[in-house]
Amino acid sequence: MAREVRHDENGPAVFEESDLGDDGQLYVCRCGLSSEGALCDGSHNATADEAQGTVYKYEDDDPDGDRRPIDGVEFGDE
Ligand code: FES
Repeated sequence: MAREVRHDENGPAVFEESDLGDDGQLYVCRCGLSSEGALCDGSHNATADEAQGTVYKYEDDDPDGDRRPIDGVEFGDE
């Protein structure tokens, strides 16, 4: 499972103490679907049923929107 996402930012994110979760941990998004920039907002739950070896595109990078597999795109060693 993998997905194509678009990133518009071209610099680093600065985190503040207020970005920490209730448990004091910093949760950085790695799925690319968060609407909170580099911070996880739980949107990764939309990827739970993605198939291994398939690359997806989420419409407008919206985890609640439509998604489709991208044909002809292979993703490394999953
Ligand atoms: S890892 Fe991307 S929203 Fe949680």
